[in-house]
Amino acid sequence: MRQKLAAGNWKMNGTQDQLGMLAQVPPSQPGCEVLICPPAQLLIPAVQQALGRLSIGAQDCHAQAPGAHTGDLSASMIADTGARYVILGHSERRQAHGETDALIQAKAAAAIDAGLCPIICIGESHAQRTNGQALDVIQDQLRLSLPDHLTQAPSVIAYEPIWAIGTGLIPSLDQITKAHSAIRAHLRQRFGAPGNDVRLLYGGSVKPDNAAQIFACPEVDGALVGGASLSAEDFGPIITALAAA
Ligand code: PGA
Repeated sequence: MRQKLAAGNWKMNGTQDQLGMLAQVPPSQPGCEVLICPPAQLLIPAVQQALGRLSIGAQDCHAQAPGAHTGDLSASMIADTGARYVILGHSERRQAHGETDALIQAKAAAAIDAGLCPIICIGESHAQRTNGQALDVIQDQLRLSLPDHLTQAPSVIAYEPIWAIGTGLIPSLDQITKAHSAIRAHLRQRFGAPGNDVRLLYGGSVKPDNAAQIFACPEVDGALVGGASLSAEDFGPIITALAAA
């Protein structure tokens, strides 16, 4: 049985005074884990304030071991903060930082080797969706951005259609189901039975008023939530809907 996961991605938002929100979010419970991924400067105080009620993760890591990489954090340095997750290959990093599938694969391998659980993001653009290429794009991203030892440790894949991120648009429930089924089929085919243990999140404009219907889709184990994870008022009901799903 896969544990559900409600993951909040704060992106480039958050100063120390916003950490008070962590005390207001419903905590992790046996079937449903709650994760916050704050910006890097808040990782250590977030771990301290989460007090085991919540899991904490980073939003990126470097692919290589500590060394001469100005401005970057290695996976081992993130693990040293007490964070246990790292988001990798978010479309904002693929687009604004030119991250390729090969780089994301290397980062995911580094994360696993450092004992972190990678959350590997994939998803099609609006043009690719309109041209009927969404499932092909997803397959290519899975083939190229997952490391071969993915299932030797816990890992998560987030399906995030680029056109649904921050827009208020979401795919139809049928489109979400088809994408998640295709991801699960790829994982089973490539990794065998352990492919069933990888948790699959949907991400892109998840809000309190659409969460329950998204969580009812087969193979949706939770959500990667951007804007609505910044306030307990919005993130709380999403967590509650997931725990009840
Ligand atoms: P959103 O962002 O919930 O604000 O659409 C999701 C994400 O980018 O992970």
